[in-house]
Amino acid sequence: MEGNIYRGELFFFIDSPLAKSEAFYQHHLDGGLFVMNGKVVETGPFEDIHARYPDIPVTDYSGKLILPGLIDTHLHYPQSEIIGMYGKQLLDWLDEYTFPAEESFSSAEYALSIARSFVTELLRNGTTSCAAYATVHPVSVDALFTVASEYGMCMLTGKVLMDRNAPEGLRDSSLEGEADSRALIEEWHGKGRNHYVITPRFAITSTPEQLERAGRLHQEYPTTYIQTHLSENQGEIESVRSLFPDSVDYLEVYEQAGLLTDRTIFGHCVHLTERAYKRLGESGAIIAHCPTSNLFLGSGLFDMRKANSYGLRTTLATDVGAGTSFSMWRTMGESYKVQQLLGYSQTAFEALYKCTLGAAYALSLADRIGSLMPGRDADFIVVDAAATPVQRLRRDYLRARGKWDIEHKLFGLQTLGDDRNTVATYLMGRKAYASDTRDHQETGVQHDRDHNPQPLGPHGR
Ligand code: GUN
Ligand code: ZN
Repeated sequence: MEGNIYRGELFFFIDSPLAKSEAFYQHHLDGGLFVMNGKVVETGPFEDIHARYPDIPVTDYSGKLILPGLIDTHLHYPQSEIIGMYGKQLLDWLDEYTFPAEESFSSAEYALSIARSFVTELLRNGTTSCAAYATVHPVSVDALFTVASEYGMCMLTGKVLMDRNAPEGLRDSSLEGEADSRALIEEWHGKGRNHYVITPRFAITSTPEQLERAGRLHQEYPTTYIQTHLSENQGEIESVRSLFPDSVDYLEVYEQAGLLTDRTIFGHCVHLTERAYKRLGESGAIIAHCPTSNLFLGSGLFDMRKANSYGLRTTLATDVGAGTSFSMWRTMGESYKVQQLLGYSQTAFEALYKCTLGAAYALSLADRIGSLMPGRDADFIVVDAAATPVQRLRRDYLRARGKWDIEHKLFGLQTLGDDRNTVATYLMGRKAYASDTRDHQETGVQHDRDHNPQPLGPHGR
């Protein structure tokens, strides 16, 4: 029988930590994850799994965490190069940095090269699925789906629709945008692990006609997703108000175009009306909270407690390149700080849930990703919770007091962690990335040494 057992400290959610049920996660200090043909077969205490399948080879990650791969529900792959650019707020930042960078993606070759760097960076950070914006150019979508397919990565992306208020080289027309999107859906949606996302950038850059065409296209292909930006920044909201004077609020612009669905990912949602909270809750829409971006562009503070009170399906996201890190750990950490400023001390469990099973549920993909329950795709990461000197100091302090438990490990990761904590990233049971940062001497454990120090490239090469 083919397959592999991964030994390590296993943790994943089986329910929401906010659901108040007793058993919302599975945790085995010395756990075993049995993977076969890219799927999770079984998890449990290592000794039990090993005893049941004695002939299956074991990869030993003892002392390291084994977690489901992280899910980033909103980011822009063509902005990988313009991360961390100084100055100003959203609309100026778009004009000054973003649009010029996106113009280069008319070249298929260029798009492919950035798509490769982007996917490598995701894997280094332990992100195994994402919903990414491409650019207005169809070849930019081809590039990302091509690279994701080579790696066997679950990818959600789509061509940006912009038929106004953008530079000429970045504009389509409502007809052309629809035709290009339809052709891309036919080409890529549902092929392998690829999911198409209909992507009107935001209300400022699409005419009402383009928004309506996008809404109708989704009705025609109801298993596609929709992604856009909502109520991120005050200047943006003012502009939407003047472009759509008849709408009661920003969300209603999308609602009237048929874009408010339970498969729509709304990025940001920082400044919502009460009506919008209510409608987002009723519709089951997906909210992508992007804390590093909101702080970087000075957009504002997303109110997670309020979102929870309306039952919104919130997820966390980097929003690279306005977001300042590819790391979902950093994103969780900044989310914690944003909530602190609003008087809500978000737990490590809540944050991680919204990057794993919570995100998977929101995307209607929980039967495939987000946890390590039997039958799920074996997308998982091996994480060293004490990879840096200061993380080790903190670990030793906690260990000496009998408090080096899963909550302190996860909270430490979200406060101090980043790509340095990723030991390995697996997609469908295949190692797609491995670092050489493991501290063998310290644990005395002979870990899986069969790795290259750098991203392995497609198919674990
Ligand atoms: N709103 C419209 N486009 C963008 C973008 O590229 N980044 C961010 N942060 N907000 C947007
Ligand atoms: Zn964005």
